Amino acid sequence: MLRLFKSASSTSLHSNIGLVSSATPFSSFQRRFFSLESLKQKTKNQKLINWVEEQAKLCQPDKIYVCDGSEEEYTGFCNDMIKAGVLTKLNSKRPNSYLARSDPGDVARVESRTYICTKNKEDAGPNNNWVDPKEMKQTLKPLFSGSMKGRTMYVMPFSMGPLGSPISHIGVQVTDSPFVVCNMRIMTRMGQDVLKALDNGADFVECLHTVGAPLAPGVEDSKWPCNSTKYIVHYPEDRAIASFGSGYGGNALLGKKCFSLRIASSMAKKDGWLAEHMLILGITNPKGEKRYIAAAFPSACGKTNLAMMLPTIPGWKIETIGDDIAWMKFGSDGRLYAINPENGMFGVAPGTSASSNPNALETISRNSIFTNVALTPDNDVWWEGLGPAPAKAIDWTGRDWTPSSGRPAAHPNSRFTAPMSQCPSVDPSWSNPKGVPISAIIFGGRRSSTIPLVYQAFDWKHGTFMGASTASELTAAAEGTLGALRHDPFAMLPFCGYNMADYFDHWLSMENRTNKTSNLPKIFYVNWFRKNKQGKFLWPGFGENSRVLKWIFERCAAKGEEGAEVTPIGYIPSNGSLDLNGLDISKDSMRELFTIEKKEWLNDLQSMKKYVAQFGDRLPKEISNQMNELEKRLNDDN
Ligand code: OXD
Ligand code: MN
Repeated sequence: MLRLFKSASSTSLHSNIGLVSSATPFSSFQRRFFSLESLKQKTKNQKLINWVEEQAKLCQPDKIYVCDGSEEEYTGFCNDMIKAGVLTKLNSKRPNSYLARSDPGDVARVESRTYICTKNKEDAGPNNNWVDPKEMKQTLKPLFSGSMKGRTMYVMPFSMGPLGSPISHIGVQVTDSPFVVCNMRIMTRMGQDVLKALDNGADFVECLHTVGAPLAPGVEDSKWPCNSTKYIVHYPEDRAIASFGSGYGGNALLGKKCFSLRIASSMAKKDGWLAEHMLILGITNPKGEKRYIAAAFPSACGKTNLAMMLPTIPGWKIETIGDDIAWMKFGSDGRLYAINPENGMFGVAPGTSASSNPNALETISRNSIFTNVALTPDNDVWWEGLGPAPAKAIDWTGRDWTPSSGRPAAHPNSRFTAPMSQCPSVDPSWSNPKGVPISAIIFGGRRSSTIPLVYQAFDWKHGTFMGASTASELTAAAEGTLGALRHDPFAMLPFCGYNMADYFDHWLSMENRTNKTSNLPKIFYVNWFRKNKQGKFLWPGFGENSRVLKWIFERCAAKGEEGAEVTPIGYIPSNGSLDLNGLDISKDSMRELFTIEKKEWLNDLQSMKKYVAQFGDRLPKEISNQMNELEKRLNDDN
């Protein structure tokens, strides 16, 4: 039997678990609780106790600390990290906010190191890196073994979604990073209440995380401990995650992409619901009628901006439920009800400004953590696109910077972590455990040609096909040929935890899961990024996108072709039904925005056919039918 709590003089490998190590900076606050014993006192969930004990045996932390999620705890960790030089406290104009700088080799999600480990390779699909789970566990064992030596293992019970909601699910993350703890406290509902909810034996997703940098006694810790070897591993069949070597974002905040998308999408497939890379917004017309819309866009297509947009059309209101992830389950009325499983925003800083997204700026005015942005001389944050550059600053690498340095001051993937509740446009129902009924689903990508400003699917099957055909042009920030089309079905390519062909099938099956097909959301596709021959954007975007949302809103209640014109690709707004009042846009631009070039569409279709060929027999027949029908409609059209 493992002796977890023996005296310091014991020579057992695990003998010092439970002791306070003077080598760590975390002393003042944590001394009060530091053992597995405290977990045993706090929970009756034997699976949880066993699982944590197993991780402790493996990772061999000096201490175990069970997080209560309190403000006091959060502030305690932040203060300890300030003392250790990990965080910089920002000035009092941005109260309770901090800056961290990561290791330059740990700045983004690492898709090439992300694995879906299912027993059968085909179940992970060609869209995922796959390794047999047994083999992966063997590979990871020596890496995790002793990985938390010299550190504390923090145990975080957390709920994705409002605690107790039938749409929510619970996870428990163990991590050796207090920085991750503080971010998870903002991004999830974390702490004591969740631990209590686990008492009745409730299940949880197992989330094991280490930065992979054991600390030898007397050695000074690095400001951003991490490991050049990284593994982000998912075992969907066990509902478990193991993440090694990174402290950054989606690699380390395991409630986000790992749980809420990769593991949850596989849970959703099994149990008949949807876990999607979608924002959720509420839209209210001047009569006070309200509908909820979910929208999926690949990265860098303005999801956060759309979720908290200020509409330019008078009398309309947009409110925010979420900016990144939606979980949707059927209500007893056969409608899909959505929650935002997250509790905060982990947004990209560069480009966020008072003009592009004033609501986001207000959200991050306090109680926020910034990672890899620049620090101004008065201890505030700055990034490219925020406003005039400061005369000097400290850049994200910690070096002196001036506007003539010839390099960005903030990393292009620098982030803010901020509580959702602080968003001025937050919807009153944003944490309603029932979720909100979804009337419309939007897909979109960045396309300089071909795709009109907006079009609507004829029905659910056609809409599923539209989601499957989502593609976006690569920007200068991404690898690959500028402008090359990247297929990103449902904007889920990096996040679908199983074979994408089965995922298409799952979407198609939704029609059979509702008691009334007309209760399913209507499906739309938008493109804010179409350009004219001179390379200029045809549509102004931002708040003006509310005009498109208005048409979508109205189409949700419209009968048949009301407000719409039938084209080979779907419904587009009929003449005059898109509200352009007060918008200075030429007739030519509007014509170009809705031009459907048969040749371009047939090219797209060829590219789609090539893309889906990788799924072989697993591709649902209906997707092939939809491709054939679209081709026929395009060829029949004169
Ligand atoms: C994100 C992403 O960080 O989609 O939200 O990459
Ligand atoms: Mn995202």
